[in-house]
Amino acid sequence: MAANEAPPRKLKEGLLSVTPPEDHKKPVDLNVNDDKSTVSITIVGASGDLAKKKIFPALFALYYEDCLPEHFTIFGYARSKMTDAELRNMVSKTLTCRIDKRENCGEKMEQFLKRCFYHSGQYDSQENFVELNKKLEEHEAGRVSNRLFYLSIPPNIFVDAVKCASLSASASNGWTRVIVEKPFGRDSESSAALTSALKQYLDEDQIFRIDHYLGKELVENLSVLRFSNLIFEPLWSRQYIRNVQLIFSEDFGTEGRGGYFDHYGIIRDIMQNHLLQILALFAMETPVSLDAEDIRNEKVKVLRSMRPLRVDDVVIGQYKSNTNGSVSYPGYTDDKTVPKDSLTPTFAAAALFIDNARWDGVPFLMKAGKALHNRRAEIRVQFRHVPGNLYNRNFGTDLDRATNELVIRVQPDEAIYLKINNKVPGLGMRLDRSNLNLLYKARYSKEIPDAYERLVLDAIEGERRLFIRSDELDAAWSLFTPVLKELEEKKLIPEYYPYGSRGPVGAHYLAARYNVKWGDLGVDE
Ligand code: BG6
Repeated sequence: MAANEAPPRKLKEGLLSVTPPEDHKKPVDLNVNDDKSTVSITIVGASGDLAKKKIFPALFALYYEDCLPEHFTIFGYARSKMTDAELRNMVSKTLTCRIDKRENCGEKMEQFLKRCFYHSGQYDSQENFVELNKKLEEHEAGRVSNRLFYLSIPPNIFVDAVKCASLSASASNGWTRVIVEKPFGRDSESSAALTSALKQYLDEDQIFRIDHYLGKELVENLSVLRFSNLIFEPLWSRQYIRNVQLIFSEDFGTEGRGGYFDHYGIIRDIMQNHLLQILALFAMETPVSLDAEDIRNEKVKVLRSMRPLRVDDVVIGQYKSNTNGSVSYPGYTDDKTVPKDSLTPTFAAAALFIDNARWDGVPFLMKAGKALHNRRAEIRVQFRHVPGNLYNRNFGTDLDRATNELVIRVQPDEAIYLKINNKVPGLGMRLDRSNLNLLYKARYSKEIPDAYERLVLDAIEGERRLFIRSDELDAAWSLFTPVLKELEEKKLIPEYYPYGSRGPVGAHYLAARYNVKWGDLGVDE
């Protein structure tokens, strides 16, 4: 497939600018937004959960916000037989309007649905993709055609689908891009094999490997926080930071996804991608510019500077059934799609280090788990103690209570807050820990867009900043593959924790080894 790339221009200016919001609405001169060009978006695997819950709603939100080009068509592609009307009916059930924008919502939905079509076909049938191509051409009506394929299908059919799309349905005179969802392999070897198979049909710049955590508002904001506030960047190193914690927890199990999950486990599902990507963004040096390649160059340097992870620095757990009052919650292996003797971890904690000048010796602790007591994703930065603190006696022996901590809560209730020591008002001298708190819902009235909206829009615009380049992926797998192999070869038994609990105690011992206390379990959390 020839990469016929126009220079990236913004459909909706403002994503990287600091212009006031009203300016974002101005129409811009675009190769995909003029009368002579069109964008066709094909969702391969249209009847699946991700398509229904995330991709169609994201496209509708973009349409509602006038972010899609004037001429666009959406095609659902899947094996099941469905008419256009049936697809529209299925899609309509998952569309919602923003809470703060309900004007003409019904009407907009109708207009959007009219642009959605369906084609039934096999994922490995060139013939079926030729038929799709014909339909796309009819809609494109002789305009310059730009085509985006979103692969929302199991990984074992990625290559077949890309082959067929590439050989039989790529754009003849515009760009062709493919969004690929993880998992990108299970380890270094399978990931490299996938990349080289995809590259038989696509150039690297046509492949958009999506990690939806990079599209989350607070993850995107990390660079803004660091690089546009004088007060943070000078502190961003081993000199002032004692440890960094990357925490992901869900208060539900693998319900319904056990078949997929059991083949991957929490390290591959969350740590190797979502948490590691956040770590790379958090720890990277200042990029030369905000261009995708400059940012990705810096991220890959972080990943390549990481100390090989040892099995001793990893704790794994698996949830077991639990009863709370009259409600009982199933264990992981109670899931019918999971083998009864499965050792797949549903929880893991790891201590990682970046062996470079900025981060030498600073533990980066990760913790990810399913079926825990809450749903949360956050970054916690614990600063060093104040040397010779005049107020030490106010804290007694527990110096951790006096630690400044910056918390970036990615979800839910997006927030950035800084824990500081403060004098309790009054005649005495009593200190407490209080928060300087930026709670998004109190500060911004606008609803926060779903990560998929930003990422799909970026793919349409050819903006690659938030997508994973192949060398980043290789580096991420190099870090985790040896540990995963060892865990699996030695059949290490996970520590069992009750559904809805705070997870295995092993995570505390691991943190304690590096003189760290998990911030999310503190008294004032
Ligand atoms: C996915 C994982 O990548 O992220 C799931 O495969 C997980 O297991 C999900 O539930 C979490 O995403 P979010 O956006 O709901 O936090």
